[in-house]
Amino acid sequence: MRTVEWIDNHVAMIDQRQLPWELTMVNLYTYQEVAEAIANMTVRGAPAIGASAGFGMALAAMTSSATTVEALLADLREAGRVLKASRPTAVNLAWAVDRLLALAHNNTGSHLDDLRASLLREAQRIADEDVEINRRMGYIGAELVKDGDTILHHCNTGALATVDFGTALGVIRAAHEQGKRIHVLLDETRPRLQGARLSAWELEQLGVSYDIIPDTAAGFYMQRGEIKLCLVGADRVAANGDFANKIGTYQVAVLAKENGIPFYTVAPTSTIDLSLASGAEIPIEERDKGEVLHPYGLALVPAHYHARNPAFDVTPHRYLSGIITENGIARPDFVESLRAIVMAGQTQVG
Ligand code: MRU
Repeated sequence: MRTVEWIDNHVAMIDQRQLPWELTMVNLYTYQEVAEAIANMTVRGAPAIGASAGFGMALAAMTSSATTVEALLADLREAGRVLKASRPTAVNLAWAVDRLLALAHNNTGSHLDDLRASLLREAQRIADEDVEINRRMGYIGAELVKDGDTILHHCNTGALATVDFGTALGVIRAAHEQGKRIHVLLDETRPRLQGARLSAWELEQLGVSYDIIPDTAAGFYMQRGEIKLCLVGADRVAANGDFANKIGTYQVAVLAKENGIPFYTVAPTSTIDLSLASGAEIPIEERDKGEVLHPYGLALVPAHYHARNPAFDVTPHRYLSGIITENGIARPDFVESLRAIVMAGQTQVG
């Protein structure tokens, strides 16, 4: 089952807010519904929201009443604006929207129906490529995993955060498929609990040994020498290797360096944003304080208490051992290695 897919005339996605208790799908028929599903985290995870935004653009094309190519382009630009505004940090979202807009702009000579069909095909290609890229990244990264390793993982970067297979959790899955005996410590990842709810659910399905730990326990297990490797995902990687990921990633990175533990992020090239010189330029989403005060309706404290809720933080590149991508592992100096890795992908496509 894919996290998000196109069925007949609409988008179907797993409702990640209901897991691990219920596995339900939601059906979306307009790009506005897709934007809302991204904003309220029915679907989440950088590659999954990228693929969803691609399908959202296809929906915009299919539901547009435009009778000229110019009018369709105007509708697509508006849909792109709405989709891009749904969540600001993961660059995959803007990357997918821009890929479909570019296709539309390069095919203004097409018949309207042909253009609509090619936009849908491109959205499907984004989703199919994602699965293939994740598998490749997973096996490249699995070379770093040794038999018997205990791995620390933050947030959810698995099949649910992508179209299928996953990024950092994909590396864990690939190592498991290779027969390596591994154990995973899953940061529960307050306040949305993606680690406890979603990563644990996925590792249950895969039969990978794991323990959920409070976010505050990561340093404890590192200090005791139990953790051999840290693997996390990324929502946006800047040209110098600084990267934004789920809130709490920065403290894991600092603790890993303090304890001499290799720390890698696993990210497809669609997550690399070479237009930003450093992580200081990455927009960081702030979410509703209610997620902290009453997560999933559980009133931890009175609702009027004050709280702040940054959804992501930026880890400076000096804490990174490497960035695992579908085109290989980027190592410091990241300015050079990331550019080469992105170029390698463009050469393969071209
Ligand atoms: O707020 P979320 O759940 O969308 O955040 C997800 C993460 O931070 C993931 O680590 C990141 O998107 C990479 S997922 C392959």
